[in-house]
Amino acid sequence: MIKKILVGLIGLGVIVLAAFLVIAWKPSIDSVDPPSEGEFSQEQIDRGEIIAGLGNCQTCHTTDQEQPYAGGLAMPTPFGTIYSTNITPDPETGIGQWSEEAFSRAMREGVSRSGAHLFPAFPYTHFTKMTDGDVADLYAYMMTREPIQAEAPENTLEFPFNIRLLQAGWKILFFDEGRYQADSSKSDTWNRGAYIAEGLGHCSACHTPRNQFGAEDESQAWEGTVINNWYAPALNGSNRSPVAWSEDDAYAYLRSGGSPHHGVAVGSMADVVHAGLGLAPDDDIRGLATWLAGLNPSDGADLAAQQAAEAINAASNKRTPSSLMGEGERIFAYACASCHYNDPDSPNALRPDMALNSAVFAPDPVNLIRVTLEGVSLEEGIPGAMMPAFGEALTDREVASLLAFLRSSQTDQPAWSDLEEQVRNQRQQ
Ligand code: HEC
Ligand code: HEC
Ligand code: HEC
Repeated sequence: MIKKILVGLIGLGVIVLAAFLVIAWKPSIDSVDPPSEGEFSQEQIDRGEIIAGLGNCQTCHTTDQEQPYAGGLAMPTPFGTIYSTNITPDPETGIGQWSEEAFSRAMREGVSRSGAHLFPAFPYTHFTKMTDGDVADLYAYMMTREPIQAEAPENTLEFPFNIRLLQAGWKILFFDEGRYQADSSKSDTWNRGAYIAEGLGHCSACHTPRNQFGAEDESQAWEGTVINNWYAPALNGSNRSPVAWSEDDAYAYLRSGGSPHHGVAVGSMADVVHAGLGLAPDDDIRGLATWLAGLNPSDGADLAAQQAAEAINAASNKRTPSSLMGEGERIFAYACASCHYNDPDSPNALRPDMALNSAVFAPDPVNLIRVTLEGVSLEEGIPGAMMPAFGEALTDREVASLLAFLRSSQTDQPAWSDLEEQVRNQRQQ
């Protein structure tokens, strides 16, 4: 009897394994000669350039700005480091021998031309939603870049995460292949925004927490998380900003890099806004803003202005008379207030108000620590504006008391813990 059960179990195991291999095995797609000049129209290449921006291809596939798309960017994961690959049309080290079919399969299914499964550090889980036209335009743009010979470093993933075949199992659990499905109950503008946000622009890759397998946790969609040492805020009703994101504020932020009622786009979000959305037409940005405002029910621009004025007034009422200032408040007065002051009725994105700023309201202090230590460069936030770095002027303790002061005086949020230690850790990063 036991023998029969054992034989049965082994038989079942073999069948399951065989079924897995059938699903997991992908054929290689034949190589082609790199496309010749003139194969694509200039209009198609120009459209492809906008798509490449929306998909942030350059941000992830470039280490040296002189060698765009040559790959090699290290992406640390809890399982080891993955390096982006060379996607220039170099025939040996890039994708020069890839047909459009092979390129499309990589974008839609996360499978390389050789048939190897790709890791989801490459956001094919979102690119799968792209239209055929967008994939074709993107292919035209990529294949007409300067070919660069460059080999990406070997990944350092630990066993068994380095076995690409096992990615097929990950896909069964966490990957839904398929094009974007328009929601007919919503406007075309909203659908355009959702197509970019969920597909090409892969916004949730940073704004949604991941589970222990590195997949986005759909039960916590848009709840915000720390990624690559920046905090990407919640974009839904869990967003802590005192002013709910209206469509106009979202438009200003995504188009110019700053919203008067929230602050500016620094760190990885600066790349999304400027390198990513920079070339996108206004309709695309309007679409994203409409979609974003829908995620986060707001009461429109009028209420936004009123909420902003209330928040600024409430914060200034909490300030102590100057003779009683504690250390944090004194540092703010000396080092920050000369730039960060506002008329409550018309706050200005160029001097983000601390009583409205997302970094001060965020559950994690990393953005506020980094901006204080490192400043804001000319390219980040609103281009052309910058903020000096204070890392060398202030000690860890001084930064910690400044930030504790901002948290308690400007917001209604709970105090951050272990601030001094967190400042020290940031300096070491
Ligand atoms: C968040 C970072 C990131 C973004 C954004 C990104 N990629 Fe990648 N891409 C990667 C990584 C990492 C790999 C390597 C994955 C692996 O080794 O399994 C990769 C692999 C690829 C491959 C497979 C190459 C090969 O040799 O197998 C192609 C093609 C590709 N990316 C194209 C693109 C295009 C086109 C875009 C823009 C629409 C893009 N990628 C955006 C990170 C990214
Ligand atoms: C590579 C990671 C990354 C991607 C991709 C990304 N974001 Fe962000 N986002 C961030 C980070 C980090 C911040 C915080 C920046 C700051 O405070 O200056 C942020 C901030 C924001 C904010 C401001 C939130 C607030 O309350 O202040 C909005 C709005 C936003 N992102 C929208 C988007 C949209 C829309 C997309 C897709 C088109 C997107 N993000 C894609 C990382 C990302
Ligand atoms: C010389 C003027 C100046 C001083 C002094 C200054 N800032 Fe700024 N700060 C700016 C400007 C300008 C921006 C917006 C930069 C941009 O849009 O590129 C900014 C942006 C910020 C942001 C917004 C980041 C975000 O993600 O929205 C924070 C937070 C901030 N400053 C905190 C501080 C603190 C804390 C101090 C004092 C230690 C300080 N600033 C001192 C000019 C200044």
